Amino acid sequence: MTFEEYYSAFKAYSDIYSDEYRKRIENLEPLLMKFMKEKGKVLDLGCGAGGFSFLLEDLGFTVVGVDNSEYMLSLARGFAKEKGSKVEFIKADARELPFEDNTFDYVLFIDNLVHFEPLDLGKAFREMARVLKPGGKLILQFTDLRALLPVLMNGQVIGAEYWISKVLPDKDEKTVLIEFQSEEKSFRVRFNVWGKTAVELLAKLYFQKVGEEKINEHTYLQVYLPKK
Ligand SMILES: C[S@@+](CC[C@H](N)C(=O)[O-])C[C@H]1O[C@@H](n2cnc3c(N)ncnc32)[C@H](O)[C@@H]1O
Repeated sequence: MTFEEYYSAFKAYSDIYSDEYRKRIENLEPLLMKFMKEKGKVLDLGCGAGGFSFLLEDLGFTVVGVDNSEYMLSLARGFAKEKGSKVEFIKADARELPFEDNTFDYVLFIDNLVHFEPLDLGKAFREMARVLKPGGKLILQFTDLRALLPVLMNGQVIGAEYWISKVLPDKDEKTVLIEFQSEEKSFRVRFNVWGKTAVELLAKLYFQKVGEEKINEHTYLQVYLPKK
């Protein structure tokens, strides 16, 4: 199963009008506003279906959305057309961004870590620091999957339609294969496992942490300034 199939199965990522997606936006909006007081130019990196790009555009920011998945970009562009949005959605890889140095006031990186192996996340952080202006902010939201793994292995229902039927970490718990099950079908997706400490250590190479909020037991929003 590809990530695209996985995302299309979950409205929380693919349908910006669904209750699940709206809930993600409602939970994050007050925190984003706390750390994004000045308006400016935003890179929504790994923008997916674009819900956070549209939120920030509505709040007066100039937004560019970047994703490396043609499928996710087609969803975002479709929603943009419906909404009459001016957000520019660009296909690019977080490890090699097609922007000049010091272009953005903010980089949003929301819920994307599971896609990145350590070397790739290092490259992506370097790129984020490069394209941020001095004093610009990286807003990073992630789930501590390392801490969540034991909870998942005990069995936890997610969403209304799917539940987790198997959690199979590799030997070193660097990745985990998760099987999702519904009445009709089941599928498996492999995620990279990131713990909070490892994320912070890697980010520290290029950034200085200036803020953190706990969103729920295993999910964090962190704010970083590039070291430049
Ligand atoms: C869980 S989705 C999150 C989307 C969006 N940030 C949100 O919160 O709704 C992760 C996104 O990261 C994108 N992605 C994964 N690897 C990427 C890469 N190397 N460069 C750019 N985007 C990437 C995926 O295509 C997917 O759309």
